[in-house]
Amino acid sequence: MEIRKELLPSGQLKPLFEDLMKVEFGTNFTDYMFTMEYTREEGWKDPAITPYHPLVLDPATIMFHYSQAAFEGQKAYRSPKDEILLFRPAENARRMNRSMARMCIPEIPEDLFLQAECELLKLEKRWIPTQKGTSLYIRPTVIPTEVLLGAVRPSDNYLFYIILSPVGPFYKEGFNPIGLWVDKTYSRAASGGTGAAKTGGNYAGSIAATLMAKNKGYSQVLWLDAKEHRYVEEVGTMNVFFVIEGKLVTPPLTGTILPGITRKSLLEMAGDLGIETEERLISIDELAEGVDSGRVTEVFGAGTAAVISPVGRFHFDGKEYVVNNNETGYWAKKFFDTLTGIQYGESEDKYGWVYKVE
Ligand SMILES: Cc1ncc(COP(=O)(O)O)c(C=O)c1O
Repeated sequence: MEIRKELLPSGQLKPLFEDLMKVEFGTNFTDYMFTMEYTREEGWKDPAITPYHPLVLDPATIMFHYSQAAFEGQKAYRSPKDEILLFRPAENARRMNRSMARMCIPEIPEDLFLQAECELLKLEKRWIPTQKGTSLYIRPTVIPTEVLLGAVRPSDNYLFYIILSPVGPFYKEGFNPIGLWVDKTYSRAASGGTGAAKTGGNYAGSIAATLMAKNKGYSQVLWLDAKEHRYVEEVGTMNVFFVIEGKLVTPPLTGTILPGITRKSLLEMAGDLGIETEERLISIDELAEGVDSGRVTEVFGAGTAAVISPVGRFHFDGKEYVVNNNETGYWAKKFFDTLTGIQYGESEDKYGWVYKVE
């Protein structure tokens, strides 16, 4: 599809940041955005790249009330050869469509999703930072735009947009271990719900517990399953991994956790790095006992925004558990180095995961 472009005079472009390591994640955006509309009669139409702008919507728009929306999270990296690199973007296009299908939103052809990202990134190349640990975060989003407070039903109209945010580390700790709060009061997602979709409601429902964790001095919540409050599921915006008796263990995709692309990649590369993997239920009791007995030697989160985030301690049922002396473990570092090496185009990509934007 032809993408219409509305460009700014160069004098009106925003200045770049001198040190992204000091900028809060996701608080600043580039000069342009991509937009595309959907109507029931015409389908997806009018793809355009225009200056970054606020959206003007009627207060009764479905978005504000019933949240029938979905989004994605990706990063663009600048390689040592000055190329723009994406990591497994087709996986994001597919997951976006899966989230949209769950929310009853008509799908976007994968090649159009990718074309939109590539054209926007080419125009915004100057925003892709070079320093390791920084990148240009990509947030494709789809929202319902029909005005309707009555029946709760799919919107007839949608807006799909992509915005870009130059970012440094997700956590203030950087690559140092974070602390997690394990709570039995709240749940993130229940069986049959929307936990496997990337949709705002999952995150809105997690704010109270996350706030509680933060007030107690922890970075995030380690979620347990909603039925028994027993099995470990995931962390705020990351999937979770454990090294148990030398094996890499992670909870299975049972429909309540987000099928992370970083998660999938770690499982796929683990064998080559020399560690066996296992996808199985892990109870919080097994984890607590395992940390005490030394069976569990590492805990870390994995996701696009945080990359690999070592977990140095967690609080459960009135007790503090310290993992690996609150230090970054061997496997967290190994996965971090291998993954970021591929993502930044510094090491060989034998899996064919890196996509060059041309
Ligand atoms: C709830 C949740 N789990 C896991 C992840 C990790 O997914 P990915 O590796 O695709 O970024 C994310 C981030 O997107 C997330 O929001």
